[in-house]
Amino acid sequence: MEKRKLGRTGLEVTTCCLGTMTWGQQNTEAEGHEQMDYALDRGINFFDTAELYSIPRDEKTQGSTERIIGSWFKDRGARDKVILASKIVGRTDATWYRDRDDLTECRMTKDQVDEAVEKSLTRLQTDYIDLYQLHWPDRVAPIFGGKMRKEHYAADYEPFEEILSHLNDHVKKGNILHIGLSNETAFGVMRFLAESDKHDLPRVQSIQNAYSLVNRTFEEALEEVCVHEEVSLLAYSPLAQGYLTGKYRNGAEPESSRKKLFHMLGRYEKPHAEDAINSYVDLAAEKGLDPAKLAIKFCDTRHFVTSTIIGATTMDQLKTCLDAFDMEWSDELEKEVNKLHARQPNPCP
Ligand SMILES: NC(=O)c1ccc[n+]([C@@H]2O[C@H](COP(=O)([O-])OP(=O)(O)OC[C@H]3O[C@@H](n4cnc5c(N)ncnc54)[C@H](OP(=O)(O)O)[C@@H]3O)[C@@H](O)[C@H]2O)c1
Repeated sequence: MEKRKLGRTGLEVTTCCLGTMTWGQQNTEAEGHEQMDYALDRGINFFDTAELYSIPRDEKTQGSTERIIGSWFKDRGARDKVILASKIVGRTDATWYRDRDDLTECRMTKDQVDEAVEKSLTRLQTDYIDLYQLHWPDRVAPIFGGKMRKEHYAADYEPFEEILSHLNDHVKKGNILHIGLSNETAFGVMRFLAESDKHDLPRVQSIQNAYSLVNRTFEEALEEVCVHEEVSLLAYSPLAQGYLTGKYRNGAEPESSRKKLFHMLGRYEKPHAEDAINSYVDLAAEKGLDPAKLAIKFCDTRHFVTSTIIGATTMDQLKTCLDAFDMEWSDELEKEVNKLHARQPNPCP
């Protein structure tokens, strides 16, 4: 499996990153372990998780995915074979991540960063996390397809420099090796980079944002920032949470699919989404390709994508996702997907 540089870290990660967020609810511990064994056998060296997981977010299952990875590390003695990415939650009024009764919000304050890092390390049964990411910003920002309203600009937020300084305390201890962002904007990336330059604080090495055939918004402002600044894009939801496989076509809801189980795929059900998704599934059929492979290989062939974070709930799905990286991409496919994109740009931001 091909490897690419992760930001300026000196690390080389595989172009396929193993997503984990279904382990703990939709998948059992044994299934998570089986996926990690298989991924390692196929040459993958990069796993992504979060303190929030498993999904859907729930107080009762929070932390279950990190625990499953931790038990696998212990059982297989495989910690040194994996570049591990995890995340601290962004600003949220779901306070179950922390142990304080008086808390009204999770924020990226020093005490909360300390608690989050320590708890993740314990669940993961490791003494370091290679890449520690901010899952979404502490400030109000135009993310997940949302828009800013005038009053949002007046809302307080933990200053960029402060957040970097809290993270730096853990870099100095060796708890985390590098830092990254997620669900961030061009404004956020530039502000973090400016503060790290100014105060000699850890540099943001990556950004984990949604990127797929039906959401290429990264190409608007973030691509220019990230290419110039060598910030790696880790593309999540390359299959639009399953939609780009065609499995939900004409209102279908297959048994044990994320949609059937959790009814949580609104992001991919916006106006024009269905039409756009169908057009890519039809393109795959016309070319005799598996639509999942087409969608994943599209991400993999973007010059600004360092790693594509895949997700699977069965071993068959996992095999298909990994095989996608071996697929040939052609000028013809490039032309066809760009034609469809021009017709229906970014219906699922
Ligand atoms: N930073 C963030 O905010 C964020 C957000 C989302 C994800 N992520 C990361 O990215 C990873 C991947 O995200 P994702 O799960 O949304 O990715 P995705 O590739 O868009 O969707 C994966 C889902 O599609 C279905 N699927 C996969 N292969 C299939 C196939 N060959 N045929 C039919 N269905 C198939 C499976 O769901 P069903 O079996 O349920 O249909 C699978 O769980 C996550 O595990 C997480 O690490 C990060």
